[in-house]
Amino acid sequence: MGLKARLTYSGLAVVLAFGVGFSQTGLANAREVRVYSGRHYNTDRQIYKKFSQQTGIKVRLIESSGISLVERLKREGSNSQADVIILVDAARISNAAKAGLLQPSRSAKLDQEVPSAYRDPQGRWYGLTRRVRVIIANPSKVNVGSIRTYADLAKPSFKGKVCLRKRNNVYNQSLVADQLVMRGEASTKSWLKGMVSNVSQPYFSGDVSLARAVSQGICGVGIVNHYYVARMRAGASGANDKALANKLKVITPDPAHVNVSAGGLARYAKNKKEAIQLLEYLASPDGSQGMAGPTYEFPLRGYGSSSVLSKFVPFRPDRVTISQLGANNAKAIKLMAQFGWK
Ligand SMILES: [Fe+2]
Repeated sequence: MGLKARLTYSGLAVVLAFGVGFSQTGLANAREVRVYSGRHYNTDRQIYKKFSQQTGIKVRLIESSGISLVERLKREGSNSQADVIILVDAARISNAAKAGLLQPSRSAKLDQEVPSAYRDPQGRWYGLTRRVRVIIANPSKVNVGSIRTYADLAKPSFKGKVCLRKRNNVYNQSLVADQLVMRGEASTKSWLKGMVSNVSQPYFSGDVSLARAVSQGICGVGIVNHYYVARMRAGASGANDKALANKLKVITPDPAHVNVSAGGLARYAKNKKEAIQLLEYLASPDGSQGMAGPTYEFPLRGYGSSSVLSKFVPFRPDRVTISQLGANNAKAIKLMAQFGWK
């Protein structure tokens, strides 16, 4: 979810336009590209602006939460104005592809810029930024040294000390999908059973509230996306959160579950050429870093240069592809429900 104040409220979308197309040339048919983005990070605007300045292509941005964006695209059908669709998490982007909202974009540049694990084999979507699902622990509540990976949260020694975000959020769905691929169904089931039985607090609605609770000792250990902790440590949400995040011990499993935010060419794109050009730019080292930097995500390659993030690196992504995460999403949700993940 959003790192910056959310721009949208349910059912409403904010339209923002960047670029020089109309204003500079005065041409009615200036080149433009329309982006539907589920990334409601104010800082993304800077990167669209840069693209516009470099290419003269105007970017019209429509922001909305992931779910309502997909609903809107389904409702609009072939009348949709969307050229590029950007969503966070493997589950959301692959569900959009499955729903027929995307089309393959053939581009040698995209294939070259985006490592194969981070793109759709059919070319319908491409990873643009990376995020790591990390474990956070409170050293006064749990033995931090006994935690190396997600599976450890099922240990009986963590009885009553594990806190988790609600099942309906895609981040944990993708983590469970990841474990299905990495460790198989039987091990995943016993992990879920053990970990869920260690939960005593109500399930959380967000990673930030969970991080605060772990730091405050309400929980001993939890799982969050790395950038929430990084952002708190950077002071983005105030001195109080900064102090709380600095008290947390962050454990990045080796190998780690890595997810992406991703973009693809909309099924009914009217400005196909411009759309692919924008995707190519966003996937380039400049574009990916420009998108990932302000939100404390990681670019597609390397780790960026943030001093806050230097505490989180290096990490070693596991072998699970984003496409596999999407393919195992439904099964993951089913197992989470079966084992009582609320
Ligand atoms: Fe998020």
